[in-house]
This record gives sequence, structure tokens and C-alpha cells, in this order.
Amino acid sequence: MSTAIINGHNNSTEDFTKHVFGGGPDNAEKVVEENKTCGKILTVLAWGLVVLTMPFSLFVCFKVVQEYERAVIFRLGRLLSGGAKGPGIFFILPCIDAYARVDLRTRTYDIPPQEVLTKDSVTVSVDAVVYYRVSNATVSIANVENAHHSTRLLAQTTLRNIMGQRPLHEILSERESISQHMKALLDEATDSWGINVERVEIKDVRLPVQLQRAMAAEAEAAREARAKVIAAEGEQKASRALREASEVIGDSPAALQLRYLQTMSKICHGKFSTIVFPIPLNFVTPFMKDFKGLDLLKSNVVSDKNKEPLVPIAQ
Ligand SMILES: *[C@@H]1O[C@H](CO)[C@@H](O)[C@H](O)[C@H]1NC(C)=O
Repeated sequence: MSTAIINGHNNSTEDFTKHVFGGGPDNAEKVVEENKTCGKILTVLAWGLVVLTMPFSLFVCFKVVQEYERAVIFRLGRLLSGGAKGPGIFFILPCIDAYARVDLRTRTYDIPPQEVLTKDSVTVSVDAVVYYRVSNATVSIANVENAHHSTRLLAQTTLRNIMGQRPLHEILSERESISQHMKALLDEATDSWGINVERVEIKDVRLPVQLQRAMAAEAEAAREARAKVIAAEGEQKASRALREASEVIGDSPAALQLRYLQTMSKICHGKFSTIVFPIPLNFVTPFMKDFKGLDLLKSNVVSDKNKEPLVPIAQ
């Protein structure tokens, strides 16, 4: 900060800085050098201590981390160069070294059910699972106070945000893409914490009971409507087929006779059946030239009296 001010302004600012902070960049460099010297002395002392208490100091100095762990070591408050140590044995100096173990295994976080208001104002309860792991042990210790806790809180809020941006039908039908989107957002945000989000799975979307009923009714109505349309279409096709059949039959009178007899034989399956055998009108037309009611018969207005001779009954 102080250097920025000095570079941007004139000498009076420099004087001011010197006055307030007790010195300029020269002083800062001095402090760093003093620190280094001090650190060297302390390191030598620590080594001396180790050598003096030789067999026992080994118990303190050698540490072991598991295959899946790393140790981030701070010597006098500064990160030791060479990154995180491990797996296996590593060495620390007593009194001046502090270290933190970091577990690199994948962790599972079960996001508790979140009551979310969707974009179309429906309250749904959503829960999800997040799989994440530490990808860079040093960063996960140095850049964030508690990487796991932060990741979990962020996962919760991200879930709420994403669900709040979408309408209900999208939430129900596009879980896969929502998971992907959430994973991308989380991964990007946790990158600076040395956390790698591997997977996000949306477990469950629970709707209010009333809405469930309404949706069920809607689905039922839609299905019924479809069934009606299908039935109507079937009828249309059937009637068309019937018309074609009637046209074929109408083309030749013999076909009608055959069809007629076929129907008769179908009816006569049982042994005792009464058959009403109507004789076609054109059979008797030659004998009825003088019959007055013929015109009436032809126009299908048949009185009971006139019908009788046309319909002999066989048993
Ligand atoms: C962790 O991050 C630091 C700082 O960005 C980098 O120097 C180091 O190489 C990284 N370590 C690994 C294992 O990626």
C-alpha cells in the first residue's frame, strides 16, 4: 500500500509516509532482512536442540501422513517452499514449525432439504449431494479459513439460487442439466480454495401435496382427451372402410347375395334357430306388376299388410 502511494505521488507524500510508518521501503526491506536473520538463528537453535536431545527428539521431529493425506508446513509463520509434504514421513523442527494435515479423499456432502421459491412462485423442497475433494492442499489451508465449511455453505446457497431462477417444469424435467450447471458454478467458485467439485446430484424435488393433486388431475385429463381423439380417429377409419366395402358390394349384386348368405350361415350355428328370411324385392317384382302399393314399397314405406307376403317364415 505504502509503495503504491509513493510511486503515484511526489516527495511530500514520501515524507508523510516516512513520518507515519517510521520509514519508507528501505525500512521494510530492513525488517524483512532482520526477519530472515532472526529466522536463521532460530533455525540453528532448533537444530541444536534436536541434536542435543538426539534419540528422543526423533519422536517429535518425524511425522507420518497417510497415502491420502498431505502436510502443509509453516516455518516461523511462512509456508515452507516445495509445497505440501507427503505421503509418508516428513521432518519438522520443534518449536519453530507448525503443520496441518489435509485429507485429499473425496467427501460427500448431503445438502439438507431447502425450501425454495421457484421462478413461477411454487414452493418446492429440494435436496442434493455434492462430491468434492481438496485438489491443492497448500491453497486449501492458506487461502480459506475452513475450506470444507465454506464449500458446504456455498453449495447450499448455489442450490437455492439455481432453483430460484427456474420454473417448476424445468426443475422437474431437466435435473441433469441443472446438476451440471451447479457443478460448474461451484467448481469455479471453489477453485481459489483448492477444492475440486467432482459431482453434484439433485436427489429429490418434493412438491406440496395440493400441487401434486392438481398435477395428477391435469395429467389424467390430458390422457382422457388423448383417448377420445384416438377413439374418434378409429371410428373415422372404420366408417371409411365400411363405405369402401359398401361400394365394392354395391358394384355387383351377387356380392351382396353372397354376403347375405354368409351372414345367414353365421347366424345358424345353433341347431334350433328361427330364421327370418327376407326375399329381395326385385325377385317378386315381375309378379307384382299390377300391385298398387309397389311404389310405396319401393320408397321403403311398408305397411304391415304389404310386408307379410314378402317375409315367409321358415323353421
Ligand atoms: C497449489 O497451488 C500453488 C499456488 O497456486 C502452486 O504453486 C502449487 O503448484 C499447487 N500445487 C499443486 C499440487 O497443484
